[in-house]
Amino acid sequence: MPERYDLVVIGAGPGGYVAAIRAAQLGLKAACVEKGKTLGGTCLNIGCIPSKALLESSELYHLAKSRFGRHGIAVKGVELDLPRMQGRKNDIVKSLTEGVAFLFRKNKIATVTGVGRIAGKGKVTVTGDQVTELEAGAILLATGSEPASLPFLPFDGKQVVSSTEALAFDKVPEHLIVIGGGYIGLELGSVWARLGSKVTVLEFLPRLLPLNDGEIAGLLHKSLAKQGLEFHLETRVTGAKKEAGKVTVQAEAPGKKLEFKGDKILVSVGRKPVTTGLGLEEAGVKLDPKTGKVAVNERFETNVPGVYAIGDLIDGPMLAHKASHEGIAFAENLAGKSGHVNYYAIPSVIYTAPELAAVGFTEEQIKERGIESKVGKFPFMANGRAKALDETEGLVKILTDARTDKLLGMHILGTRASEMIAEGVLALEFSASAEDIARTCHAHPTLSEIVGEAAWAAYARALHS
Ligand code: NAI
Repeated sequence: MPERYDLVVIGAGPGGYVAAIRAAQLGLKAACVEKGKTLGGTCLNIGCIPSKALLESSELYHLAKSRFGRHGIAVKGVELDLPRMQGRKNDIVKSLTEGVAFLFRKNKIATVTGVGRIAGKGKVTVTGDQVTELEAGAILLATGSEPASLPFLPFDGKQVVSSTEALAFDKVPEHLIVIGGGYIGLELGSVWARLGSKVTVLEFLPRLLPLNDGEIAGLLHKSLAKQGLEFHLETRVTGAKKEAGKVTVQAEAPGKKLEFKGDKILVSVGRKPVTTGLGLEEAGVKLDPKTGKVAVNERFETNVPGVYAIGDLIDGPMLAHKASHEGIAFAENLAGKSGHVNYYAIPSVIYTAPELAAVGFTEEQIKERGIESKVGKFPFMANGRAKALDETEGLVKILTDARTDKLLGMHILGTRASEMIAEGVLALEFSASAEDIARTCHAHPTLSEIVGEAAWAAYARALHS
């Protein structure tokens, strides 16, 4: 007899595993199907976490080599020990994925290893070392996404790689050619540039990060170019050749043909939802014909009763925290509570140096909507803590509704922007005004004062400008 569960989740990434935990906490009997050897999905194993480990290590290496002198610390003979750097990264991944396994045991969630597939109403078949049948009151699809490839440039895992392999190079490439100047291209491009690679980024569009505020994205572009990353915008890759240990990429930019020779190509042109092998067609689950993502309503219900989907599989930004929040809301709804995701207040972070963090509308989106707005800005340069940290690049930009002073968006370029943005997210969640943020007492000396000053600038006038 197949084991019966209230909920069977397919995929143990930050969407699926969080949904399983929340469902179990609310008294539901849950199982989670995962084909990988470890839990945690892309984020923990080959995404957010290992990339942040390498970003941190490579930044420290860069600082030790070129910036410690400014603090009066003389260092000689700084050397890269890449195997150790990679080992530290692997240890972090191991401890976190084991942490999820521990949480599953603690919450009595069954882990079923293998490939999950919908096998009929309320039925999931898992093919692993053996075939297991599960019965489910509800089936949650949370299989996430995988790197998209270019049709003429399939991944080979060695010379033409995705983020997965670019997180695990055992040697610093001499010249890394990055196709796509988005999140992955900029983060992993930064890692390898800091460790000594020449990095060339080829981007199809006329600007980097088209969904981010234009002014802030432009400043990040300049900063990364100053750090040595080479950018070619409006550049369409048309072909590539592989020869022993070398790669050549052909591209077209307005009015010219270009050729780039390197030793590795990182293809980071986006990710696509993992919808194959799940039995969706047979079960009659509808995909959005435009995006290829699973179509759901605001309760994450697909068109097939009892089948739900969250995370990268459905519409919206492909972000781990978005998936987790959907997982929580889904589980709460399933348990009879009222879960909800406020898509307007989902932050995004690019972990370059400086970091770029944002929430809410950009200046461009506000203009498109014809909203009369105010802008308040404050630079890191004028902040005491930023000076003490020797990290004075960047600014906080706050956008408000000119009539009501209500916060519409916050955009931060600067060190630790990833942590600072939380204040903007909370402010948006609570429909705060710039005055609310300005009159909130920020500890001194902290970077958070820059947020306070930018709010003063939007509401009335900054004090230190
Ligand atoms: P992306 O969507 O961020 O950027 C892809 C870039 O490639 C775009 O700028 C696009 O215009 C460009 N592009 C597309 N086709 C191209 C072509 N043929 N030639 C040249 N350029 C081309 O995608 P990316 O960087 O692959 O990341 C995938 C997803 O992973 C992102 O959507 C993001 O949500 C997520 N991610 C999030 C991170 C974070 O939160 N810090 C870090 C890494 C990834």
